[in-house]
Amino acid sequence: MTSEQRPEQGIHVVIVDDQVIVGEAVRRMLSGDEDITLEAIMDPSLAMDRIRAIQPNVLLVDLVMPGIDGLELTRRLQADESTRDIPIIILSSESDVHRKVDAFENGASDFLVKMPDRLELVARVRALAAKAIAEQQLRLMATRLQKQAVALDEANRSLQAMNVSLESDVSEQRGRLRSIAMLSNELARIQDIDILTERLLTEARRILVADAGASYLVDADQLRLTHAQNGSFEAQDFTERLRDWEIAIDHRSIVGWVAETGEVANIRDAYELDETSPYQFNDAFDKKYGYHTRSIMAAPLIGATGQVMGVLQLINPCNPDGTPREQFDADDETAIRHFASMASVSMQNAQLTRSMILRMIRMAELRDPSETGAHANRVAEYALVVFGEWAQRHGLTVEERELQRDRLRIAAMLHDVGKVAVPDMILKKPGKLDDREFATMQGHTMVDEALFDELLSGYDEAAAEVVRGHHERWDGKGYPGRETLARDDNGYLVFPTQPIRNGREGDEIPLFARIVAIADVFDALGSQRSYKEAWDDERILSLLREESGSHFDPELVAIFIDRIDEIRAIRAKWSPVRSSEN
Ligand code: C2E
Ligand code: SIN
Ligand code: SIN
Ligand code: SIN
Ligand code: FE
Ligand code: FE
Repeated sequence: MTSEQRPEQGIHVVIVDDQVIVGEAVRRMLSGDEDITLEAIMDPSLAMDRIRAIQPNVLLVDLVMPGIDGLELTRRLQADESTRDIPIIILSSESDVHRKVDAFENGASDFLVKMPDRLELVARVRALAAKAIAEQQLRLMATRLQKQAVALDEANRSLQAMNVSLESDVSEQRGRLRSIAMLSNELARIQDIDILTERLLTEARRILVADAGASYLVDADQLRLTHAQNGSFEAQDFTERLRDWEIAIDHRSIVGWVAETGEVANIRDAYELDETSPYQFNDAFDKKYGYHTRSIMAAPLIGATGQVMGVLQLINPCNPDGTPREQFDADDETAIRHFASMASVSMQNAQLTRSMILRMIRMAELRDPSETGAHANRVAEYALVVFGEWAQRHGLTVEERELQRDRLRIAAMLHDVGKVAVPDMILKKPGKLDDREFATMQGHTMVDEALFDELLSGYDEAAAEVVRGHHERWDGKGYPGRETLARDDNGYLVFPTQPIRNGREGDEIPLFARIVAIADVFDALGSQRSYKEAWDDERILSLLREESGSHFDPELVAIFIDRIDEIRAIRAKWSPVRSSEN
């Protein structure tokens, strides 16, 4: 579907108007926004074919034209399956109310009197494009949920069949397969791909009893390590230290071979592979950390549509009491295959969620897709570090923590999604914003209700809290408090024109929002913006300390500074030179 790729390419607008000067004036007005491109069609009789072919995001249609007039063209576009969802703004030289009613009745989305001012035009175009994309996402989500339900059904049926055939099997293996089966519903609820692979690795290591392991995701033509765990070291999580671990998908490594072939690899001793082995062992980890890898079993994570999405690798099998076991056996192989196939629907689902979120983020911040995707990921990962420590201090159960981590990651990635409706001339202004511009900017925290009202409940609630709360201040001097956006006659959100200064205070501000506030400012200060240079760390940290208790929740600042080494490792990993995730 071409329209799915659109967000990365910006907003494509087509104007149908027989007058050259109108097209030219509109072009001038839109030219300040680099991500908006404009094509003018002067002959309305050619419009249908052209619009069908290029699928613009927004249409501007003149009301009075020779031949086919604006209303007739709108009717035809509405009647055609392939153009029905493109929002249409009718341009009229008169504001007559009957004309307006006519336009809406014929399917127009908006009505503007020529010539609108530049800010108004840009805002309407952006809002309509955002709305069309959001609606498309909803349709996608609905289809996805349907597919997921079908796939879960099938998985359950095959599990039942399997349970029956297992009656004759030894009870230990049956117990393991049962516990894998019992995980499937829980895993299906995890929406974030990163959290999901971490959970898969943890559970696979627990159920199969392996000392160490790693999970990888296919990222273009590479495997990217997402998590690494090793029970022989005090700090069992090696993920941060192995951040740059990227492996080609080919026979030069075990996991690369698994991703290439889609087969399970089961190796008794990694150091005794001979020349006939189809893959080679990379001993870099052992050398660097003084570990001894002996047996390896690696299985592909296959998506619901059959493609390899990642690899799960288990290292050094143990007995339940922790003593080493000779090698992974045939039962282990059955168990890991079963495990991977049980996870496939969840994998597919989570990957789709991630790519939809990245698309939404790019819509909002599409000025530089690689850097802004990185900003969202960094803020999300800083937030997880802070939340992890907070959850521990406050005694959250492991299950509660996992569920909340998943919601927080997605919500934090979306914190600035409301920037979608802010014109470039404000967002990219090289200097300081005036009051009116800053008020418009503040509107990016007020789109929570418009954007997150009917998707997946817990996730939506978290995202709405973070969108609305990430610029609140602990002392109550932030924004937007409880103010909501008004709607104009046409139902469009009207952004504020006066800065809002009455925010919520202290723990009236949801925890996730308080966490993201710190993560966002830390990242914003360390980055170059159109209006500021990047600050060095010392200056950033002294601001955080200074504003602890005024801008920020003091407990969370203390945690943030406590964990600064992890924060820095995350920043290094998502530095702009790296490509974005999807
Ligand atoms: P952003 O650039 O992502 O910045 C996020 C937050 O980091 C800001 O929220 C602010 O709390 C903090 N921050 C960023 N730069 C500085 C700085 O130089 N000094 C201090 N003390 N804090 C800083 P805030 O102020 O509510 O701004 C929200 C968004 O509004 C910003 O997101 C940015 O997109 C825009 N913005 C704010 N001020 C300006 C400005 O003067 N010029 C332009 N062009 N945009 C601005
Ligand atoms: C927006 O203005 O960004 C969303 C439009 C709407 O939901 O009405
Ligand atoms: C690893 O052991 O970390 C991956 C290397 C390999 O699969 O050969
Ligand atoms: C940018 O500075 O290019 C992106 C703005 C943001 O990430 O908030
Ligand atoms: Fe923001
Ligand atoms: Fe931000």
